[in-house]
Amino acid sequence: MQRLSSRRKTLLSFQPPAIGEEEIEAVAETLRSGWLTSGPRTEELESRFAEYVGARQGIALASGTAAMHLSLLAAGVGPGDEVLTTPITWPATANVIVHCGARPVFVDVREVDLNVDPKAAAAAVTGGTKAILPVHLAGQPCDLDPLLALGLPVIEDAAHATESVYRGRKVGAISLATCFSLYATKNVAAGEGGIVTTDDDEVADTIRNLRLMRRGEGSLYDVTVAGFKANLSDVLAAVALCQLAKVEEHAEIRRRHVAAYDAAVAELPGIEPLARDPRDRHALHLYVVRIDAERAGADRDAYQRSLREENIGTSIHFLPVHRLTYYRERYPDQPRLPVAERAGDEVLSLPLSPAHSDADVEDAIDALRRLHGRFAGR
Ligand SMILES: Cc1ncc(COP(=O)(O)O)c(C=O)c1O
Repeated sequence: MQRLSSRRKTLLSFQPPAIGEEEIEAVAETLRSGWLTSGPRTEELESRFAEYVGARQGIALASGTAAMHLSLLAAGVGPGDEVLTTPITWPATANVIVHCGARPVFVDVREVDLNVDPKAAAAAVTGGTKAILPVHLAGQPCDLDPLLALGLPVIEDAAHATESVYRGRKVGAISLATCFSLYATKNVAAGEGGIVTTDDDEVADTIRNLRLMRRGEGSLYDVTVAGFKANLSDVLAAVALCQLAKVEEHAEIRRRHVAAYDAAVAELPGIEPLARDPRDRHALHLYVVRIDAERAGADRDAYQRSLREENIGTSIHFLPVHRLTYYRERYPDQPRLPVAERAGDEVLSLPLSPAHSDADVEDAIDALRRLHGRFAGR
């Protein structure tokens, strides 16, 4: 029976964390243990996460951003180098390239899933290209094989891709280094944090050296490299360990929500989800639709505003980084990237979290249907 639909009474958060008593208890236990900084829980997280993705090494860090930054440094990226990346990402992906003294070279994305277009990447390689930093947008693995075939170090931004599998290979054990985020909205959420996984012991060792300023035992210490302070606290590692233990349970809830969205948007002309490749496992981190203003009767911004008035929180993943002020001003000769630029005006992420109930998702769908009816005149 069709429910009578009306405006939701309270705001549906876009992506609230799914925190249970286990996480709360684990934090309390860590606080009672007397060990707050990186310690036994961080080490356990590193080995469990590495085991989950099938990599030899896991290195826990303060953020996904730090994971990418230190991975690029470990790959030898430095001043004057170029690093190929995608414009459809969180700006951190490009910022870390700048922090290495290198130049981000944005290449256009594929229409189907807004992941980096391997042909565009191949065309952008120059003598100065030092590495490639692709993103698995929303949890759909990018097409890694043709990128790896370019023969350059690939460092993956897997902030959205904890559970992703690319053509039978688990993301996290494919390229030189894979960078995950434990940010509050992520599929394994600690609030803040990041992890690099790698099979390369030298890369792992370099990142371990760089993440803490101080190295050595007791009161004697030495500095062999001007390192950072990018380690993870045991308090956050304790949360991440609980979340990792529930990763498949949470994925199952998101899978149900995604199926509900798929069925609903199939009936709404002009509102289309990004493609998911059946050869891969998609991490279902985000449910991104593209809104074609002509067929949907209104543009993305109007939909987002109106959904907010309906008490439905949404987000945008992503505005093309090369169009943001810093990048526009610093790299004024950046060529146009037509696919990314159009997508930046059309993408809208609908609420998706294992903390949402089926009724929450139904509220979001009802509101979207109502607005589509109003805007598209159906
Ligand atoms: C695609 C992408 N890359 C990198 C990051 C940065 O991760 P963190 O916030 O853990 O630094 C995020 C989001 O947080 C992201 O969505």
